[in-house]
Amino acid sequence: MKRILTFALPLIMITSLVIIIFAVVQVRLEEEKLMDDLKRKAATVAEVVELSAGYVLSNNDIPGAERLVRKFQNKKNIQGAALYDKDGNLIAITERFKDWKDEEKTYYQDVLKTRSARDKLSKFKKLYVYSHILPVIDDRGKILGMVEMIYDTSYVFARSMDFWRNIIITLASLLVSLLLIAVFILRRMFTAPVQRLTDWFKHFQKGETSKMHGLKEKGELGALASEVEDVALKLRVARKTMSEDASARLEKEDIWTEEKLKDLVRAKLGDSSMVIVSNREPFMHVLDEKTGQVKCVRPASGLVAAIDPIMRACGGTWVAHGSGNADRQFVNSKDKLGVPPEDNRYILKRVWLTPEEENGFYLGFANEGLWPLCHITFTRPIFREADWQMYKAVNQKFADSIIEELPARNAFVFIQDYHFTLLGKMIKEKRPDATVALFWHIPWPNTEVFSTCPYQAEILDGMLGCDLIGFHVQYHCNNFLETANRLLECRVDNEKNSIVRSTKETLVRPFPISIAGLAGEPAPGRADAQVEKIKREFGLENMIVAVGVDRIDYTKGLVERILAVDRFLEKYPEYQKKFVFLQLAAPSRTRIKRYSELLDEVEQLVEKKNKKYSDGAWQPIIYLKRYFTPEEIRPFYRAGDICVVSSLHDGMNLVAKEYVAAKSDNSGVLVLSKFTGAARELTDAVQINPYSIEEFADAIKFACAMPPEEITKRMENLRRQVSENNVYRWAAKIINNLTSLQKT
Ligand code: F6P
Repeated sequence: MKRILTFALPLIMITSLVIIIFAVVQVRLEEEKLMDDLKRKAATVAEVVELSAGYVLSNNDIPGAERLVRKFQNKKNIQGAALYDKDGNLIAITERFKDWKDEEKTYYQDVLKTRSARDKLSKFKKLYVYSHILPVIDDRGKILGMVEMIYDTSYVFARSMDFWRNIIITLASLLVSLLLIAVFILRRMFTAPVQRLTDWFKHFQKGETSKMHGLKEKGELGALASEVEDVALKLRVARKTMSEDASARLEKEDIWTEEKLKDLVRAKLGDSSMVIVSNREPFMHVLDEKTGQVKCVRPASGLVAAIDPIMRACGGTWVAHGSGNADRQFVNSKDKLGVPPEDNRYILKRVWLTPEEENGFYLGFANEGLWPLCHITFTRPIFREADWQMYKAVNQKFADSIIEELPARNAFVFIQDYHFTLLGKMIKEKRPDATVALFWHIPWPNTEVFSTCPYQAEILDGMLGCDLIGFHVQYHCNNFLETANRLLECRVDNEKNSIVRSTKETLVRPFPISIAGLAGEPAPGRADAQVEKIKREFGLENMIVAVGVDRIDYTKGLVERILAVDRFLEKYPEYQKKFVFLQLAAPSRTRIKRYSELLDEVEQLVEKKNKKYSDGAWQPIIYLKRYFTPEEIRPFYRAGDICVVSSLHDGMNLVAKEYVAAKSDNSGVLVLSKFTGAARELTDAVQINPYSIEEFADAIKFACAMPPEEITKRMENLRRQVSENNVYRWAAKIINNLTSLQKT
């Protein structure tokens, strides 16, 4: 509409102006003409009446005078006549103007004196009247009296009104016609070709080549269309060639790198790109209220750390909740932006949630219900019906948003985590042809625990909409297979590790997630300046440094860790003033009561233990409670002689792997909870039961006293493990599994 008005408004304004000027001039001329006619008519009639008036006046025939003026009472148009004697006194007047005599008429004397006619326009009652007065003179030149003709002029005004009405009707019809012509021209010349171009692009984007009919536009748009067609064709051919090259290279290489994963994606997915969905977004735009500056931050999230390198390698679209308070400023009209911001490698599509949706879906059902349900840490899950309803609604909102992004053929959707148990089924309802996988980043509990969830059947039903479900370890796969077997009508195929419900089969597989790989070596012969800086800043020179890096979450065993450090220093006092434990702690989910309580608990415990031991400048625990970027964390890992991961229960735990990756000099000991998924792979870590404070304290002592050769040997093994089983291998395994399921 705006475009039509921009086009038509100048036309409408000019046309209206011309017509209005024309109308004003016309009305003026018409009015003048009518008045001239009236004047002429009045003069003529007065002259006709003059003869009879002369007779009546010379004979002083009053009844004759009245008869004469009465004739005008019968006339259709309002008019009248009056007769005056030679002194200007009224003798007779037409009935309808009987009050005319009350009007003050100064011009009578003038008429008598000058012996010539006068006319005048004046207001009489509600009428505008025109009067023409003529002296009546006999043959001898003697004035006998006067005769006055009176006319109502309102028909002149009525005629003008009629004229204006006609002009307005003409103008309105003209404007409507102009508007219709503008709409027609715009549609033909602009909207329709642009729409054809847009549809063509949409089909190109979705890979619907059969619907991409050649563009037949003419003129400038035609030139643009032909350029677009040409670029698109070249792009298609290039993609195809790259895909064939990639297949050839895959056969040759056996180390999983970003490049190799790219090749695999090209070879297996070809033109289609993957759509990944998670609740947490990889990049958040956050407004710092104090400085007024917007920062783009990477959230503290294992999921983000793992999936981002894959997306950088493969491209595609990542759909996630836009949770940053400045997120809306950075998206286009389709809520998308290219990320990483400095080097766009893939598309982030942000889905907006209302505070109510976020509370019910994320804080409520996902994190107060499913999170404690799946982590055995003895925190009771809370299931509220309202939260569940919101969880379902938000899953549907994400499903709708994802469906918009799917290509017409070869659609792949990779769902992340417990926030989206219903998404698989919802996507399949609209796109049964899509291949859908779900990766569960947290543990899966045993059947007894899971069966406490009031919505167990709907959750399992939603998950089994997927073609593939991945867990970190076989143990969680087994738990899931058994849960489905016992709680649902289905058949579990233990040979294939799959679940069959009527004709639908879902494969269940372990895929231990990882990180991108080992960090690069520091430049030879150069001191690690960042590590030196940290040591100086926190007084760590000549100290044994243990580090911990976590979100503040009750599953991470932070309290147990502090108690273990306390017990270690108590039991092995020779380490006092020689050992420092440095914890980087990112506040997380703080609007949930259990998490805000934990924040206080950990802080108070750190304070208490520091008070117990502090001596001079030395404090056994340095607690840095804030968000740290991955770049900020890396030197802390390198500074750590020990890294402590003491989760009470954890799907994988990527901090353990990140620590190993950062130790390029093969130094450092990893103390790792046996209740993490990582413990199954990182067998050269010193493994602990974090619930046993005594065992934990002894493990710290063991790590502190470990001979350098053993440290190196263990770290070499750990690094080999992390290097070989990196996240590119993880993604490759999933993509291979996914594409083997692909429907043709
Ligand atoms: O790894 C499990 C997980 O829930 C991820 O899904 C998430 O990114 C991470 O923990 C951090 O939690 P949140 O996204 O709730 O801050």
